Amino acid sequence: MKKIGILFGQEDTFPNAFIERVNSKNIKGITAEAVRIDVVQQNAPLDYAVIIDRISQDVPFYRAALKNAAMTGTAVINNPFWWSADEKFFNNCLAEKIGVPVPKTVLLPSHHRPDDTSEKSFRNLVFPTDWEYIFDYIGFPAYMKPYSGGGWKNVYKINDPGHLFSTHAETGQLVMMLQEEIVFDHYFRNYCLGGDRVLVMPYEPRNPHHLRYKVDNPCTDKKILKKVEELTIKLNQALGYDFNTVEFAVRDGIPYAIDFCNPAPDADRHSVGEENFEWIVENAANFAIEKAQQHKEGKMNLTWGEFMSDSVQTKPVKRVVRKLRKVTKKTEAKPVAKKAASKKVAAKKASPKKSTAKKATATKTKTAAKKAAPKKRATATAKKK
Ligand SMILES: Nc1ncnc2c1ncn2[C@@H]1O[C@H](COP(=O)(O)OP(=O)(O)O)[C@@H](O)[C@H]1O
Ligand SMILES: [Mg+2]
Repeated sequence: MKKIGILFGQEDTFPNAFIERVNSKNIKGITAEAVRIDVVQQNAPLDYAVIIDRISQDVPFYRAALKNAAMTGTAVINNPFWWSADEKFFNNCLAEKIGVPVPKTVLLPSHHRPDDTSEKSFRNLVFPTDWEYIFDYIGFPAYMKPYSGGGWKNVYKINDPGHLFSTHAETGQLVMMLQEEIVFDHYFRNYCLGGDRVLVMPYEPRNPHHLRYKVDNPCTDKKILKKVEELTIKLNQALGYDFNTVEFAVRDGIPYAIDFCNPAPDADRHSVGEENFEWIVENAANFAIEKAQQHKEGKMNLTWGEFMSDSVQTKPVKRVVRKLRKVTKKTEAKPVAKKAASKKVAAKKASPKKSTAKKATATKTKTAAKKAAPKKRATATAKKK
């Protein structure tokens, strides 16, 4: 018998509906239940072919238990190793690499120093930050939000430099991103299960919470609907998520991915509405059954994204080390050093002067930003709080 388990926290509607749906299909050799975790012993399996994880982001004990379960053969949805490593700034970087439009974004050092660090821990960090460059690049209004977060916590719409500095000071040790605002004509929150089952959900983030999935004039442009579906699949296959939502803000016909790191997305019947709920329950049940049927005892049964599998396949570090060893054995030190040096010069000539370009645009707003910027930022000066 292959067991499918669901691990959850405070949610009331989705977990039971999921269990009932899987079991109601009466598939031979497959059964679903709420996961039971008691003693977690290293390298001891948890006795589930598949686990849908809806809560380990909030419970480190569960997260470690799920990695152990994955090592011993459970197909954990989503891959707990990847989810532990992933965050929104990296997501944006990857999106740009694979050709998915995203708002212009920069990463900000936390306003307060992390616990157990001192001023000396930040000797590599340029201070003060080049705020003029950032403001010129991102523009105002802008969004400031945690590089790793969710549930609209600590998401701010920022109007000007003064507003940025005062708000940033309130975010403590959080690492924030500053992001261009996308003033949108349409907004979507798309479900993606198994990397290819997509539900395009029109979403209105400006409505009160309980009405966000009720959109008065939903987009009917087939081109846009097709595009957001394609981009949803592209992102999830690159990232390797089995269970995720992707938000898009559409400006001038271009969908910009806003939030696509939601591996335990809202699936509450009262929030997403009956029709969406039915799609999520049915598709999650079918997907989990497929995973259980494909499950191979005692093997790694996790999904890895194209980004990770491509990176691992090239094995760049090992190859470079071996080559270097050969070179140093056969060749004398002097010519090797010269070769390396001349390569460096060529590379320097070929690469554009990043800092000059940066400065040229930055000077435009220099005066305005200087007026607004506090003379010293707390990260480098204030004593630890
Ligand atoms: N760059 C942006 N442009 C326009 N609206 C944004 C932008 N970033 C965030 N928002 C708004 O803020 C909401 C919450 O931000 P989001 O990035 O989704 O954070 P969370 O992960 O906490 O949900 C979004 O649903 C959207 O309405
Ligand atoms: Mg969001």
